[in-house]
Amino acid sequence: MKIGILTSGGDCPGINATIRGVGKTAINNYGMKVIGIQNGFSGLLYKDVIDLSDASLSGILNLGGTILGTAREKVFRKKITSPDEKDQEEIKKCYHELGLDCLVCIGGNGTQKTTWMLSELGLNVVGIPKTIDNDVYGTDVTFGFDTAVNIATDAIDRLHSTASSHRRVMVIELMGHHAGWITLYAGMAGGADIILLPELGYNMKVIIDKIKKRMEMGKAYSIVAVAEGIEIQGSSERPAMYFAREIERQTGFETRETVLGYIQRGGSPSPADRNLGTLLGGHAAQLIHEGKFGRMVAQIKNKIDDVPLEEVAGKLRLVTVDTPLVQQGRRMGISFGVWV
Ligand code: F6P
Repeated sequence: MKIGILTSGGDCPGINATIRGVGKTAINNYGMKVIGIQNGFSGLLYKDVIDLSDASLSGILNLGGTILGTAREKVFRKKITSPDEKDQEEIKKCYHELGLDCLVCIGGNGTQKTTWMLSELGLNVVGIPKTIDNDVYGTDVTFGFDTAVNIATDAIDRLHSTASSHRRVMVIELMGHHAGWITLYAGMAGGADIILLPELGYNMKVIIDKIKKRMEMGKAYSIVAVAEGIEIQGSSERPAMYFAREIERQTGFETRETVLGYIQRGGSPSPADRNLGTLLGGHAAQLIHEGKFGRMVAQIKNKIDDVPLEEVAGKLRLVTVDTPLVQQGRRMGISFGVWV
């Protein structure tokens, strides 16, 4: 049996651990041949591939990024969704010319949807969810998230001391375009006073009142954690800039902003992310061995499992008012910018 592995979409810590998990299990436990497809789905079209062996998969467990390269997949997505059958035939032809029995696609929501479309074309595929945003539907957690939360929490910890010294409001913007998981988890772990999430929105008066009340209580500084994807009413500014300016203008308290950005996505994965990637990778190899295709591996209720790609394609896993950390934050008086 011959399998291909590719990585698509934004990178995240833990991808290499996952490639290693798939590859070493496939080679050593099931005697499969494994190739790496480079730079995402475009590598399939250009047949840009490398052989992967037990030796070449060694020494990558702790590396950030992806040894295979990755890409946002505009050209490929256009082809696969194209009504022109020629485009879809081209994709199938490339898959068969590479002699693949299965393609393992490691990626976020967009990738899972594309993987499902490949399965609809009749190709054998298995999806593995990844993203720091933790918003892939059908799994309770994605690798990359734990590392990103660690980095973001460390950043908030560092802001505390400088905020306290200067009696300032600090606004920190964290990644999460649709989902506020990183901001929620790092905000709670880092002791933020106000946590603003795309899923919940905000009311400026609630934020201002909260900061003023804290100052009146003798709390000389405040930390605001905001997710990059929050929709700003009537402005196209970055959330960090917008909230810092408005808070300073409306409270009179000196305010500074920090945009943490790609630091959250880079570097070595946490032990939890390495082990999650390793387990999911191993399960993907097992599914292939058993001939179970068209599925995405997942962690569900602390068990490594799998779900049909059809069930996850095109959906997002978002924070809700019932998310335990939101409920507990509310009970402790942490503001989510919407409730008084
Ligand atoms: O990986 C997810 C994510 O980090 C989002 O939070 C962010 O909006 C996006 O990727 C930005 O990535 P890029 O600039 O690579 O498109």
